[in-house]
Amino acid sequence: MNFNELKNVKVTISDDGIAWVNLNRPDKRNAMSPDLHFEMVDVLKELAEDPKVRVLVLGGEGESWCAGQDIKLFFRELDDKPRERHLARLANHEWRWTLLSSFPKPTIAMVHGYCFGGAFVQLFACDFAIAADEALFGLSEVNWGILPGGLVGKVIVDGLSYRDAVYYSMTGEQLDGKKAAEIKLVTQSVPGEQLRARTEALAQELAKKNPQTLRTIKESLRLVRGMSVDQAADYLLAKEREMRFLDREGGREKAMTQFLDEKTYRPGYGEYQRGAEEQGEKEAS
Ligand code: ACO
Repeated sequence: MNFNELKNVKVTISDDGIAWVNLNRPDKRNAMSPDLHFEMVDVLKELAEDPKVRVLVLGGEGESWCAGQDIKLFFRELDDKPRERHLARLANHEWRWTLLSSFPKPTIAMVHGYCFGGAFVQLFACDFAIAADEALFGLSEVNWGILPGGLVGKVIVDGLSYRDAVYYSMTGEQLDGKKAAEIKLVTQSVPGEQLRARTEALAQELAKKNPQTLRTIKESLRLVRGMSVDQAADYLLAKEREMRFLDREGGREKAMTQFLDEKTYRPGYGEYQRGAEEQGEKEAS
C-alpha cells in the first residue's frame, strides 16, 4: 500500500517500530468523513501484520484530534443515499472498533485539541490514551438532538462509571485532559508541550516488550470482562497455553533461566534480556 496516496490519513513508520497514524483533515478539525473511514480500514489492515510495526499511535493533524463524525458528509449528505450510508457505516464501525480494538499490537491514542462525539469510540478502542491537559472532550450528541450511538453509548458505560457516563452524555458538558484523566476517560494527561514525548516514551517502552505476550494480554483482558469467573479461568488458561505455543522468543523459559539459573535479572524491575537472537540475525544479514 502506498501511504503517500492517502488523502485523509497520514502514516509514518519510524525506525523504532512506531506507526504514527494521524487523521488528516485539519481544516475540518479531523471530523470523520466516509472517505476517511474507508482509508482507515485499509491502513489498519495493512499495518496489523507489518513486521516493522510494533506499536501504533493514533493522532490528528492540526489543532484537533477528532471533532467526531462529519455532520455534513457522514450524516446530511448520506440521509437519502441508503447504499452509500450503509457502506460508510460499515467502514466506520470496522476501523474504529473491530480492527482497532483487536489490533494485534499495542495502540495509543495521543489526544490534543478536540475529541467529540463519535471520536470516543476510537478513544476507547485504543489500549492507552495520553491526552494534553488542555485537550477538550465532549459528548456533544445531546446538543445535536441525537443519541451517543454508533457504539459511543456502549463504550462509555463500559469504560466509565455509570454516573459519569450518564452525566457527560446528558449534559454535553466538556472536560479537559486533567479531568479526563481523573475519571479515567484517558490513561494520563500531560502538559501539551510534553504530549508527543510522553507518548513516544510509552510507545518505545512497549516496543521493547515481548510482542506475543502483549498481544495475548490485550486480547485476554478485553474478553474476560464479559465472562463468568469459571469461563474466565478456563479461557485464561487456554490463552496462556496458546501464548506459549505462539511465542517465538520462548519468553517464559528465557525469563526463568535468567532469573533462576543465571541470576541476571529481576522481573519486578524489568524484562528478561531479549533480542540476543535478533541481534545475531542482524549481524549475520
Ligand atoms: N462535522 C463537520 N464539520 C466540522 C465538524 C464536524 N463534526 N467539526 C468541525 N467542522 C468544520 C466546521 O464546519 C468548519 O468548516 P468550515 O471552515 O468549512 O466552516 C471547520 O471544521 C472548522 O470548524 P470551526 O467551528 O470553525 O472551528 P473552531 O476551532 O472554532 O471549533 C469545534 C471547533 C469546537 C470542534 C466546532 O467546530 C464544533 O463544535 N464542531 C462540532 C463538534 C461535534 O459536536 N462533534 C460531534 C458530532 S456528532 C457525532 O460524532 C456522532
